[in-house]
This record gives sequence, structure tokens and C-alpha cells, in this order.
Amino acid sequence: MHLHKFEKLWLIVGSGALVVFLLIIGINAFAMGHTPPSDNSTLDPKQVDQTAPFDQPGLKKIGENEYEAVIVAQAFTFNTGGDLKIPKGAKVHFKVTSKDVVHGFQIPKTNVNMMITPGHVNTLTHTFNEAGNYLILCNEYCGVGHQAMGVTIEVTP
Ligand code: CUA
Repeated sequence: MHLHKFEKLWLIVGSGALVVFLLIIGINAFAMGHTPPSDNSTLDPKQVDQTAPFDQPGLKKIGENEYEAVIVAQAFTFNTGGDLKIPKGAKVHFKVTSKDVVHGFQIPKTNVNMMITPGHVNTLTHTFNEAGNYLILCNEYCGVGHQAMGVTIEVTP
């Protein structure tokens, strides 16, 4: 079979682009750990109020400027167990679940954006390096009160 030289050239360029593409994805996922959040931890969505740590939602200090925020989502609120107030530079491990349907968990101006799925413990860690008020909002349509579903985190200077 005879291949035109441009045909050969484009085959090389095409295969090369594919290799580069796979390398970038591979390095990102395996070497840099940019993988999707895992949902390895499960619970009975009907037993959320009886299941630790969700029986006591709230902010807990677990280290030097490091916190765990346990939050229960349900139509149409985030139960945070009280005010979410943290100092600047605080590292917060969010631990979230839903009692009913799928909700969203997004904090604009940050990389925090995940789904809250009933039956799963959804986790994400974020360090708040700038003071100010941050809104946690639901970005998955969950019913008539969806647009009102949000709560504020205050990061003090
Ligand atoms: Cu919860 Cu939309």
C-alpha cells in the first residue's frame, strides 16, 4: 500500500497528539492525584441523624488552624450545627451527606464543587487563604426551595 507523504506526516502528528494527551491525563491523575472525589464511605440515608458524625453536625477544631465541618444537606437547607466561622488560613475538611435527594455543594471563588449524594459521605478539603464571607450553595436542582438553599462561611482576618 502506498501512503502519500502528507498522509504519513498527519498520521505521525495525530498519533503524537494522542500520546501527549494521554501523558498529560496520566501525569495529572496518577502523579499529581487529580482524581475525582471518591465515595467509598456509605451510610443509610434514613439513619443520618443516628449515624456519627452526622448525629452532631458542626465545626470541630482538629488541629492547628485545621477543622472538620460536618454538614447535613436536606431540602432546602444545610444543617451546619451553628455558625461556620474560621480564621484566615484555616484548612477545612468538609464531610457532607444528604438526607433526601441529590444536592450540590459549591463555594464560588474557590475550587470547592461537589455533589451531595444520599447514602454517601462526600468529602473535600479546602484552605481559606483570604478573609471574607463565602457562600456554600446548592447547584443541583432539588425542588421548589432550591434557589434559597445556601449557608455562609465567615473567614476572619
Ligand atoms: Cu439542594 Cu438544590
